[in-house]
Amino acid sequence: MNNKNQQSVVLRDMVEADIENYVRWFTTETEWCALDTPWEPLEHGSEEEERKNWTEYFMQASPIPPDAPRWKYEIEANGVHVGWVSQYRDLEFLPNPHQFPAVGIDLAAPEARGKGIGTAALSLFLDKLREQGFHCFYLETWSGNGSMLRVAEKLGFHEVFRKPACRSVGGRMFDAVTFLLRDL
Ligand SMILES: CC(C)(COP(=O)(O)OP(=O)(O)OC[C@H]1O[C@@H](n2cnc3c(N)ncnc32)[C@H](O)[C@@H]1OP(=O)(O)O)[C@@H](O)C(=O)NCCC(=O)NCCS
Repeated sequence: MNNKNQQSVVLRDMVEADIENYVRWFTTETEWCALDTPWEPLEHGSEEEERKNWTEYFMQASPIPPDAPRWKYEIEANGVHVGWVSQYRDLEFLPNPHQFPAVGIDLAAPEARGKGIGTAALSLFLDKLREQGFHCFYLETWSGNGSMLRVAEKLGFHEVFRKPACRSVGGRMFDAVTFLLRDL
């Protein structure tokens, strides 16, 4: 059990049954993207195209050897697939000469947000990266994403870069913000 409201959160590899969730999250239930990068509309195909693409993705991606490092995990809360965490290396505004992982998260299922699941999932993901020997992590977001800013703060990230007023959302300008977490 993790965090608020006794949510049981696990990270796992993709399974075939996740495909239909991705189809929905990339065609109709797309609010997560409007919260994540609202200045960048989600580009997606028809339901049929998304099903084909996600099926191909699943077939190519699995099975992952048990001890291979993962770039992405599916998030399951109380047994329900609700989103994903992922890592990347190319930061938008800072060089990353040591190739520290930058972590990203999307709870695409709307009912999953605001229950402590994001904090718990990112915390689990950081622990998995620590097991691979990483002890510094980046996280990029924007100043209008109150819950992401708070989750970053709760996990011990601190701000290392801010580009003012570079994100236009609903007629207002917001900042891009980069956080760093450095284990002691
Ligand atoms: C951002 C996201 C990962 C956060 O996960 P979550 O499970 O909803 O967050 P949690 O419930 O763990 O924690 C949210 C915290 O932010 C606080 N919060 C929520 N909205 C807030 C706001 N507008 N301003 C400030 N704090 C806010 C909550 O009170 C909570 O803090 P608390 O535990 O101290 O009360 C999730 O909401 C999500 O996936 N959103 C859509 C996609 C997205 O924005 N991804 C991030 C891209 S950088």
